[in-house]
Amino acid sequence: MDSSNLKCLISREEIDSAVKRLAADIKQDFHDKNPLVIGILKGSFVFLADLVRDLDFPHEIEFVRLSSYGSGSTTAGQLTMIHDLHVSIEGRHVLVVEDIVDTGNSVAFLMKYLSEKNPASLKLCALTDKPSRRQVDVKIDYRGFIVPNLFLVGYGLDFDEKYRNLPDICTLQEIGEEE
Ligand code: IMP
Ligand code: MG
Repeated sequence: MDSSNLKCLISREEIDSAVKRLAADIKQDFHDKNPLVIGILKGSFVFLADLVRDLDFPHEIEFVRLSSYGSGSTTAGQLTMIHDLHVSIEGRHVLVVEDIVDTGNSVAFLMKYLSEKNPASLKLCALTDKPSRRQVDVKIDYRGFIVPNLFLVGYGLDFDEKYRNLPDICTLQEIGEEE
């Protein structure tokens, strides 16, 4: 696949304004709570980097990494935590930051795992939401965009570890695929 198969779905400008809107909503709820912002690696790293620079109140940042899906664009298999938290979240206000909620399995797994550690509160911010693919119920407290059932790359999202660096969110079309 080369860049000729990429089509911009959400522009950098649209992403910027969504990030500002999400940060304003998050600020209302968390400005006096010194929240722990937990990014899910790797996909959320670009979004999280922009989001936290719009959170002009005290907070801390941690990362976790889940794995199971392997490379490529298919999602199947068992979820495991391959990079766990190294701080206690008991009694803390926690905001999980994710790039995309697709089937919902990853986020459902992580939210359950974190809730068992007795945080004071636990919320989810997802830049994109693909509800047509959902297999498990997930409550998204702060959502950037609802997206169609297309495979997306860019702004942290990858296909086989590529395209995370694209500034926009793009669709990746198969060669020969019609629009
Ligand atoms: P879920 O567990 O099916 O909700 O999938 C979550 C993970 O799958 C996301 O964090 C992404 O890493 C990956 N994923 C799902 N859909 C896409 C996509 O369209 N592009 C890139 N990665 C995706
Ligand atoms: Mg991800």
